[in-house]
Amino acid sequence: MKRFFVFFFTSLMTLLFMAGIVSAKEGKVCIGCHKAVTPLLVKDWQSSEHSNNDVTCNVCHGAEHKSKKTSHLARMPDENTCAECHEEQFNQFTKGKHNLGWTSLNALPVTHMEPDELMEGGKGCGGCHNMGVKSEAQKKELRDKGYTYQTNSCDECHTRHTFSKKEAQDPKACQTCHMGFDHPQWEMYESSKHGVRYQMKEMGKLPKDAAAPTCQFCHLPDGTHTNKVAWGFLGVRLPLPNDKQWANDQTTILKALGVLDPEGKPTARLDIVKAADLARLTEEDWQAERKKMIKTCKKCHSEKYARGELEKGDQMIKKADRLMAEAINIVADLYKDGILNKPAHYSYAYPDFLHFYQTGGSYIEQVLFKMYMKHRMRTYQGVFHANPDYTYWYGWAPMTKTLDEVKKIAEGLRCKAKIKQ
Ligand code: HEC
Ligand code: HEC
Ligand code: HEC
Ligand code: HEC
Ligand code: HEC
Ligand code: HEC
Ligand code: HEC
Ligand code: HEC
Repeated sequence: MKRFFVFFFTSLMTLLFMAGIVSAKEGKVCIGCHKAVTPLLVKDWQSSEHSNNDVTCNVCHGAEHKSKKTSHLARMPDENTCAECHEEQFNQFTKGKHNLGWTSLNALPVTHMEPDELMEGGKGCGGCHNMGVKSEAQKKELRDKGYTYQTNSCDECHTRHTFSKKEAQDPKACQTCHMGFDHPQWEMYESSKHGVRYQMKEMGKLPKDAAAPTCQFCHLPDGTHTNKVAWGFLGVRLPLPNDKQWANDQTTILKALGVLDPEGKPTARLDIVKAADLARLTEEDWQAERKKMIKTCKKCHSEKYARGELEKGDQMIKKADRLMAEAINIVADLYKDGILNKPAHYSYAYPDFLHFYQTGGSYIEQVLFKMYMKHRMRTYQGVFHANPDYTYWYGWAPMTKTLDEVKKIAEGLRCKAKIKQ
């Protein structure tokens, strides 16, 4: 009992002592040397709220490293370190889709066939998908491969070491990741009326309180850190739509995603979809997200207007799915008729979008993949982001053109096969 008491007392004293005097002193040591080692990094920190509140270097990086030779002892703080003081934001974040970025990346077969530099090293897919609190096993895998950074999600919007709220409130905070090939939300938003009004406001050409929604206004409303939308990225959902043709077309797409096998039976990938929340799997989940979005639009538009605009997006998914399924079926028939052979890395003799552009696949599948990943995405993402040009010229129009191309290539392959016989 007495020993316990002494232990308790000394521990308490140590804690208090560490937290107070030592912490501030150790911080000064870090800053003193780092003013010479990384001067502009220190300047950033000095301009932050953290500096104003004595959140010094050692609070996040520990105090084991104090000399030039021991920098390998500096700890890289993960989200749990931030959570010690920002529990609310941390909890919100863990309920949203960003928390699943690393999980969904690692769930794809393609990820494990690409160079590590692009994944764990963060130079490709991993540079955007390092979002999400990593499990101990995931962290160990990183360390074992020699990667010690990329352990924090919070600095993706509040970059270090300014850690600014204002920065995260600007749509540009989302640009680096939400742009380009398969999700050009930045480009679509920037040139939409919503984005243009935001820029006009910033330039002072519209009044300061003019209505102009930002990405954050629609996707992280009222300051929340939880993000999720109804359709999600892949543009598929369960239960299948009531419309028979559309249900058939979505089934065809689910087969090409490998979630259903060529006979239409669920595969192990359905579990991956569930674990990484890649699609809404019940009507209630989908409706809940749609409702939230309409509530946001309603701050500026009538409900009738907002609902109608979003339904046009749903309809464009349906129409894009008709073209997409037709193209998939043309390629699937080539496998069925023995004109295309099953690539070694495929589970089935059927198109497989989740292998992306792997060598050992066929050219016709590369064209098909682009139709899905680039053009189908733009067709509906463009409607949802009020951008007519993306919807038509970068979405729907190339889809129709690509369907023709797929038909042409298939014809050629069949011709070649006949000559060989
Ligand atoms: C006597 C000088 C000195 C002191 C004191 C010092 N550092 Fe460093 N620190 C360095 C040098 C040198 C590096 C290596 C820089 C490089 O790789 O270019 C470094 C690197 C780091 C890194 C990056 C490690 C990495 O893997 O990239 C962190 C984080 C860091 N220091 C934090 C701290 C903290 C926290 C303290 C105080 C507890 C501290 N430093 C005290 C000199 C110092
Ligand atoms: C609020 C927490 C926090 C504080 C305070 C903090 N850092 Fe960091 N620091 C981070 C995070 C987060 C990372 C990135 C970790 C990762 O990528 O895994 C980082 C990374 C670094 C790195 C390596 C990456 C790079 O850009 O070079 C250095 C060096 C560094 N910090 C130095 C410092 C110094 C010096 C101070 C004090 C002036 C300081 N840090 C204060 C959170 C903090
Ligand atoms: C030891 C406590 C502590 C830790 C650890 C900590 N912070 Fe903070 N942070 C504060 C305090 C105090 C403030 C200023 C008051 C406030 O806004 O809550 C602040 C403010 C902020 C702000 C708002 C800044 C602004 O412009 O208004 C952000 C963003 C932030 N922290 C992010 C982070 C991130 C990211 C981490 C982890 C890498 C982190 N903090 C770790 C204490 C901490
Ligand atoms: C430029 C940043 C960036 C790169 C590079 C990137 N992604 Fe993504 N990825 C995103 C964003 C942003 C989303 C969400 C897009 C959306 O919902 O429209 C996403 C979505 C996904 C999803 C769907 C997640 C879900 O739950 O809906 C998967 C799976 C995925 N990416 C895998 C990959 C793979 C594999 C690679 C590399 C071959 C890759 N990504 C490269 C940013 C990136
Ligand atoms: C996707 C971008 C994004 C990520 C990632 C992100 N934040 Fe934020 N954060 C924001 C935005 C936007 C705001 C401003 C909210 C508002 O307008 O009130 C914010 C505000 C904050 C604030 C200030 C709250 C206040 O009202 O003073 C803190 C603290 C904070 N975030 C901490 C974190 C922590 C901790 C993490 C990691 C778990 C994190 N953020 C990750 C976008 C992000
Ligand atoms: C570091 C890269 C990165 C940044 C910065 C980033 N995101 Fe994301 N975002 C992603 C990735 C990766 C995904 C896909 C997550 C997954 O795999 O589930 C995603 C998904 C999303 C989704 C899709 C949710 C769904 O249901 O499918 C929304 C909405 C979103 N982000 C909004 C934002 C907003 C708003 C910002 C800026 C405040 C932002 N993101 C900043 C990488 C990023
Ligand atoms: C006016 C509101 C609004 C703004 C502003 C907005 N979005 Fe969206 N966003 C939507 C709607 C609506 C959807 C589709 C929701 C659904 O599935 O029903 C969506 C969907 C998304 C998705 C999922 C895939 C997709 O595109 O359909 C991501 C990721 C996303 N937005 C990111 C962003 C980013 C990043 C920005 C800023 C560059 C942004 N959004 C600006 C309303 C908005
Ligand atoms: C913060 C206010 C605000 C919010 C929130 C908002 N909008 Fe808007 N929206 C506007 C304004 C202002 C315009 C410009 C009206 C005009 O063209 O005269 C506009 C224009 C539009 C346009 C027409 C674009 C064009 O090119 O003519 C569409 C479509 C639209 N909004 C849909 C939506 C949808 C759907 C939502 C919800 C997901 C939404 N808006 C949320 C303010 C908002």
